[in-house]
Amino acid sequence: MKVFIEKDYDALSKKAAELIKEVVKENPNAVLGLATGSSPIGTYAELIKDHQKKDGLSYAGVKTVNLDEYVGLGEGDEQSYVTFMRKNLFNYIDIDLSNTNLPNGKAVDLDKECDRYNALLATLKQDVQVLGIGSNGHIGFNEPGTSFDSVTHVVDLTENTIKDNSRLFDRIEDVPRRALTMGIKNILDAKMIIVVANGENKADAVAKAIEGEITESVPASVLQKHDNVYFVVDAKAASKLTNK
Ligand code: F6R
Repeated sequence: MKVFIEKDYDALSKKAAELIKEVVKENPNAVLGLATGSSPIGTYAELIKDHQKKDGLSYAGVKTVNLDEYVGLGEGDEQSYVTFMRKNLFNYIDIDLSNTNLPNGKAVDLDKECDRYNALLATLKQDVQVLGIGSNGHIGFNEPGTSFDSVTHVVDLTENTIKDNSRLFDRIEDVPRRALTMGIKNILDAKMIIVVANGENKADAVAKAIEGEITESVPASVLQKHDNVYFVVDAKAASKLTNK
């Protein structure tokens, strides 16, 4: 595991974008595993900035798989993760939208949708998976207690996660209570993993993930078992690490 402690959000976003760009330069047909949430927005903005430069990196051959989507939300819904990805990345790079994939939160049969997504992931192994981390240590929407062997499944979000995510909704009652998420096994299948985290409210989760016991109570602690993980964090998110 490599840990980069950057001075602020801008610096961590630049660093994470550099790492992703290396992967795409190496393999223009790379599969990028992507996350939503506030943490990677700056990273995506850096990728867009770079793409829009003269001779910027092309994503024409890239495929993407996203971690998760709220149940009940999808294309056309302002708060859906598919909309988030378009607004924060896909609309500003030359990716073919048909090469972008998210679980379908509007699927009528959610179990079947999980099966479809698992089958898709089996054919699209992530060259790099970008992750944020929840203040409770969740990755994707794999909440504390989720099996390390889990694959794409439907989850009931914890009150903690609903509260954290409510800042993006008008009212807390509007936050969906369920989501579809890649499982921990799907995440660990990635060849490389980049975790981005900023701010003091991530400091506990970051310290436990990097230095704590490997336990299902802290889903991100499983990353210690993967042999190609990069944590790219700002000084505040790193503040509780004992070994800097
Ligand atoms: C998002 C996701 C979540 C977030 C996490 C951190 O696709 O899977 O695990 O990465 O909740 O969210 P932010 O970055 O908003 O603090």
